[in-house]
Amino acid sequence: MTSVVVLISGRGSNLQAILDAGIPVSAVISNVAGAGGLDIAVKRGIATRVVKHGDFPTREAFEAVLAAAIDGYAPKLVACAGFMRVMTVGFVERYAGRMLNIHPSLLPSFTGLHAHERALAAGVKLHGCTVHFVTADLDAGPTVIQAAVPVLANDTADTLSKRVLRQEHVAYPRAIRWFLDGKLVIANGKVNVEGNDAQYLFDDRP
Ligand code: GRF
Repeated sequence: MTSVVVLISGRGSNLQAILDAGIPVSAVISNVAGAGGLDIAVKRGIATRVVKHGDFPTREAFEAVLAAAIDGYAPKLVACAGFMRVMTVGFVERYAGRMLNIHPSLLPSFTGLHAHERALAAGVKLHGCTVHFVTADLDAGPTVIQAAVPVLANDTADTLSKRVLRQEHVAYPRAIRWFLDGKLVIANGKVNVEGNDAQYLFDDRP
């Protein structure tokens, strides 16, 4: 029970960063057939599964099969990395305290979709990403680490998302390593790291 199951829906650049950091991943599960991240896993000899949400009549039916697939690997941690499904309370509770997500904003700002576009529209000067425990409220669980980048005057959603993504690839493996090493302490809905490692990053490279 020392490994991680990663849930994806798309290209899998966070998955790649997690693997490059040497995190032990036992399986990658996608709700989208042909997701780019599946190829990344296959090339590394990691087990892959596809559970298509559209094949099921209800969210619960989809999640029952997804949970059975996850539990087959008995992971210590479930890491959502660009997994684009809203989960039911039952599913979230099954993995309470052992499921992380990465969201491309400095939460609690800009939960949900199109975070970069909304950050630009709001005129914020700092943007970034957040790794958090998954709870029943969308993009709202206890924060493990945040990484900030400046928003530049000529940024587009594309340039801004690339700058944030570079930080995602640093922050997420770091958070997962802390979890696997048993260093995360949650109390009163807040997360601390034993040893007081910095739970923030800032990178103002353009
Ligand atoms: C990332 O921006 C992540 O924060 C968001 O979805 C995107 C996934 O990208 N949840 P990738 O598939 O890891 O490249």
